[in-house]
Amino acid sequence: MAIKIPVMNNAQRHLRPSIQSLAGSQIREVVNSALDQTSILKFWFGESDEVTHPAVREAAIASLQAGETFYAANLGLFELREAVAAYMARLHGSLANLIDVNRIAITSGGVSGLMLATQSIVDAGDEVVCVTPIWPNLPQQARIMGARVQAVSLYAEAGEWKLNMHALCEAITPATKLLLINAPNNPTGWTLTRCEQQMILDHCRTTGTWIVADEVYERLYYEPMEAGNLNGGINHPHGCAPSFLDIALPEDRLIVTHSFSKSFLMTGWRLGWLVVPPSCLDALGKLIEFNTSCAPSFVQRAALEALKREAEITPPLVAHFKRCRDTLIPLLQALPHVQVRAAKGGMYAFFKIEGFDDSLALAKRLVAEAKLGLAPGCAFELTPNGAAGGWMRWCFASQDVARLTQGVLQLRQWLEKQ
Ligand SMILES: Cc1ncc(COP(=O)(O)O)c(C=O)c1O
Repeated sequence: MAIKIPVMNNAQRHLRPSIQSLAGSQIREVVNSALDQTSILKFWFGESDEVTHPAVREAAIASLQAGETFYAANLGLFELREAVAAYMARLHGSLANLIDVNRIAITSGGVSGLMLATQSIVDAGDEVVCVTPIWPNLPQQARIMGARVQAVSLYAEAGEWKLNMHALCEAITPATKLLLINAPNNPTGWTLTRCEQQMILDHCRTTGTWIVADEVYERLYYEPMEAGNLNGGINHPHGCAPSFLDIALPEDRLIVTHSFSKSFLMTGWRLGWLVVPPSCLDALGKLIEFNTSCAPSFVQRAALEALKREAEITPPLVAHFKRCRDTLIPLLQALPHVQVRAAKGGMYAFFKIEGFDDSLALAKRLVAEAKLGLAPGCAFELTPNGAAGGWMRWCFASQDVARLTQGVLQLRQWLEKQ
């Protein structure tokens, strides 16, 4: 006799509404459209094609060989937390804003750090303000928590991205639980000035709003340091982008998120850190227990080695990325119908191709017809309707600068056929 299975509703319909309505990554959608395509020049992901420093890889191997295969402390290896605190204090510490180990939590990637920060602050129904364009993970995490996210959009003036401070301060009211802000910015490279940071901090102090400042690109900064930003102490010409940590006090409602991915070439290792008010560290340790429990010890050993070799790894990398940027931008500017300006920080050219109104469709066509892999502007919450015109993001962190030149040639040839 056949067993009767009761008719059930489709399980997916019973997931939380904020999960059901979660939008997938549009960068992945472009990548997936290219699965059967060969010989594509890929600039779609935010990472260099250079492998992690050999000594850093060796440190991970040595840790595994020594048998470090067990659970570690929730907040991370004490030694690594101390090294991160010393690094952050060298960049941003001051008498007023002491940065020590009691403010550092090691996380499983920058993205996990951002999620932990959001989980710590946001309840369902809370209001969150977010400066866009932005890497979508930040607002999406807030939506996963059930928050309502209001975007305040940067505007482009003669190709340069700017923030309307008046509009931002108007959007942040006492009802605003959290401001999500990423500078240097993915995708635009826009960077906050010290003066803008001070205004935002002052305003958020009056409204009681938390700031989660995503500063993972702070070392990928190509401008001379701003006057008054003298506490970088970093021995190379470009130093570090202005940080909220330079002006905040330890108990300000500020969480700064960081990653080993970008300035230490460690994207696949999944390691980052948070700088938090000292009074919040214990709660954060508990939250890490219920998310990832801890970051792997061997990855943390590798990160410790990376920090020891910071002067050997990061400044040459930044100098190379600057060469990449300075190669790519003039070539793009010389193309017909393309608008772009050199970004102050980050690793991207964010540019508009006139005459196209759907960036996702454009990115897919570029893959199929020009063999060029770029990220569509719509992936970065550029406009409320998501189409984002002909905006494209090009990651210029290429070991071989000639790849960039070749990519622009393919774009030019494609544009000439349109
Ligand atoms: C703005 C921004 N924040 C955070 C991250 C997270 O980096 P990861 O999770 O690799 O540490 C990224 C990665 O692309 C990013 O662009």
